[in-house]
Amino acid sequence: MTDGPVTDGPVTDEPVSEGLEVIAWPVRTERLEIRPATAADGPATWHYRRQESVALWITSAQPDCEQYLADFTEPARLAATLVIECDGRVIGDLMLAIEDAWAQAEVRDRARAVQAELGWSLDPVQTGKGYATEAVAELIRICFEELHLRRVTAQCFADNESSWRLMERVGMRRESHDVRGSLHRSGEWLDGFTYALLADEWRSARLGTP
Ligand SMILES: CC(C)(COP(=O)(O)OP(=O)(O)OC[C@H]1O[C@@H](n2cnc3c(N)ncnc32)[C@H](O)[C@@H]1OP(=O)(O)O)[C@@H](O)C(=O)NCCC(=O)NCCS
Repeated sequence: MTDGPVTDGPVTDEPVSEGLEVIAWPVRTERLEIRPATAADGPATWHYRRQESVALWITSAQPDCEQYLADFTEPARLAATLVIECDGRVIGDLMLAIEDAWAQAEVRDRARAVQAELGWSLDPVQTGKGYATEAVAELIRICFEELHLRRVTAQCFADNESSWRLMERVGMRRESHDVRGSLHRSGEWLDGFTYALLADEWRSARLGTP
């Protein structure tokens, strides 16, 4: 975002995120464990990220394992990557990239590290079981309850129905539909969706209030 007003409410004085080290990892859900990725998780994530149904939608599709591992272990990328484990095996990964919100210059300091962009990939043999829903719902809880962020966002190609349906299952709202705004590696300019969820929306939904 480069211009325009902040439209979703006043800047609050809630504490901003201190980073993922404040969390007691691994975080457990009913069936899964979520923890920060390490370089040693590279081969397990390459195993499914290289598969066509996954590579089709993700940002980078490296030509070989060597290049993949170099990208995976790049410090900024690794710091924003979590892995999902089921019965001790890595079955997917999550992105949690904490970022600044757009703000006018005079209040920019108060908009630093207040939101996160989320992302996800699951091993295709593990889809259709609700694992992504379980992991992403927990990721959102971590963002709001433990990191005290005020907003989460996610983006996908409009044709990636599995991904935007996941966003809707975890309560995210479609905020924008970009018409032929994103270039796919196939060479086609595709539509894209942006989804978001505010902390107060999430809390209201948990309490069952409108
Ligand atoms: C996006 C992605 C993670 C979604 O995976 P998914 O398996 O559809 O999502 P879930 O794990 O939450 O499973 C939901 C499905 O399991 C079913 N399910 C079974 N048990 C369930 C349970 N306990 N809870 C919820 N859903 C359950 C749901 O009905 C749903 O099935 P449906 O799609 O037929 O309606 C996966 O398709 C993927 O990795 N895609 C490739 C990478 C990608 O696109 N990343 C995002 C780039 S923007």
